[in-house]
Amino acid sequence: NCQRTLVLIKPDGVHRGLIGEIISRLENRGLKLVAMEFRHITKEFAEEHYAAHKGKPFFNGLVKYITAAPLVAMVWEGSDAIKAVRQTVGATNPTEAAPGTIRHDLSILTSRNLIHASDSVESAEAEIKHWFKEEDIFPWER
Ligand code: CMP
Repeated sequence: NCQRTLVLIKPDGVHRGLIGEIISRLENRGLKLVAMEFRHITKEFAEEHYAAHKGKPFFNGLVKYITAAPLVAMVWEGSDAIKAVRQTVGATNPTEAAPGTIRHDLSILTSRNLIHASDSVESAEAEIKHWFKEEDIFPWER
């Protein structure tokens, strides 16, 4: 069941020098990196990415956080990649994330949780379309 999923290393992850650590953990899991780009996104682009959270009390802060500085946008591919990535990333709230997950091991605040990962087949498809052109995704030879 080969899937693709969108992963963002948010500005706090870039700032803290955790790009390599986060990518290593996903590579070690056996997932394949098929697209990657440094991006500094606009407020409008962020609001569309987080459209599902519009109206929530943390929405404005979330948009400010994600647009504050450059981030790393990636597409990862693999068997059940959406679920596999979310397992490795851990729960949204780092204090509820399981030990061994990225969020547990490397963060402590929900509002600075380092990383984003698509949460369903539908959102992965929409998010990858929002962030990448198909020609900028490089599937490995199979
Ligand atoms: P992410 O997986 O990118 O999806 C939505 C983001 O909103 C989430 O990670 C957090 O960064 C943020 N978020 C979710 N809930 C809260 C909250 N209660 N307070 C602040 N930020 C939140």
